[in-house]
Amino acid sequence: MSKIQLQQISKQFGETQVLKAVNLDIDDGEFLTLVGPSGCGKSTLLRIIAGLEMQTSGNVLIGDSLMNTVRASNRDLAMVFQSYALYPHLTVRQNMATPLLLRDLTLWQRLPLLGRLASGHSSAMALINSLVDDTAATLKINHLLDRKPGQLSGGQRQRAALGRAMVRQPVAFLMDEPLSNLDAALRVHMRAELAELHQKLKTTFVYVTHDQAEALTMSDRMAVMMDGHILQLGPPAEVYGNPLDRRVAEFVGSPKINLFSAEVDSAGRVMSAGVPFRRRLSVLKNTAGLSVGLRPEHLQISTCAVEGESWPLRIVYKENLGSDFFLHGTINGSSDRVVVRAAPSMVSEISIGDDVFVQAEEGAAMAFGQDLRRLAFAEGQ
Ligand SMILES: Nc1ncnc2c1ncn2[C@@H]1O[C@H](COP(=O)(O)OP(=O)(O)OP(=O)(O)O)[C@@H](O)[C@H]1O
Ligand SMILES: [Mg+2]
Repeated sequence: MSKIQLQQISKQFGETQVLKAVNLDIDDGEFLTLVGPSGCGKSTLLRIIAGLEMQTSGNVLIGDSLMNTVRASNRDLAMVFQSYALYPHLTVRQNMATPLLLRDLTLWQRLPLLGRLASGHSSAMALINSLVDDTAATLKINHLLDRKPGQLSGGQRQRAALGRAMVRQPVAFLMDEPLSNLDAALRVHMRAELAELHQKLKTTFVYVTHDQAEALTMSDRMAVMMDGHILQLGPPAEVYGNPLDRRVAEFVGSPKINLFSAEVDSAGRVMSAGVPFRRRLSVLKNTAGLSVGLRPEHLQISTCAVEGESWPLRIVYKENLGSDFFLHGTINGSSDRVVVRAAPSMVSEISIGDDVFVQAEEGAAMAFGQDLRRLAFAEGQ
């Protein structure tokens, strides 16, 4: 069993508390992503799992064993970094074989020339070579095994680094922004490859990124971290569709969710920029700084007003993505931009400077209170 449990993990660097009593259970074989803005503590948490950093308090368990005092090299985890950390003077084959040589050969067998004379050397080497070949086949890099890292492209280097992590068949892979050195197109391609690799290996992946799109596309579950806390943990569709905190709603999704400041009356009716929402809030607490969030795909554009249901929108920018348009506009001269997704056929007649109307899709609005936590609308209204 290779489930990983983090219990009440805190980490302090001097005066700064970087992680604040983080609890997280990572299932065996799961692809879990730690995602959040720069400096929120993702790498620190990953390094604590790896044993490269010691937590100030709390427990790390792998399987059911307490790992707090177990050295990194004995945790049976493989770490893949942003900088691939390949040895430049060794070929890909030698780079991939290194972890196995260190693990499986005796000190005597590892000696440069004399080692070959040691008993068991050739059978151990044959086993290592066949493991390297199998791993290279999985990653489709067999043809690169005799090259040195300097003779590889970024994506090929990334695969070689993955190969080196894979040969040991670790209980889990820990990856810290492994794709961030690649150009945009290759990053998207490697996302799919990594997800496929995970399907094939069925090993636990813990993946750190600040890129919400990576987290959304690859993970079984994502943990959105901010300021040393996990704000929300769940499958990508749930985190995107049902954010429990305004910071999560804003962080996940591109373009960002639109946030409207809103007021609420004593009956729980919510109103923003003169337009009431149909549903009422079920609990009237924390509503002083109320805001309502609507994702760009949950707003509909039209050229005529619907009484009491639509806001006037002045178009300031049309963003053409080919399959879709994002229309940027302002409501009643406010400086806040509202972004609406629309099909190309809907926007062909709309130009910058035009005044149109925008309406919320029924049931799509999400309310957030002063403490940034989600507020529930009453059901059935
Ligand atoms: N060895 C250290 N000594 C002091 N402070 C540190 C140390 N390592 C990290 N920090 C601080 O801890 C905080 C969290 O750092 P961490 O590297 O975990 O962030 P991150 O979420 O991985 O960010 P990024 O997306 O930029 O990589 C930061 O404010 C950082 O400056
Ligand atoms: Mg980091």
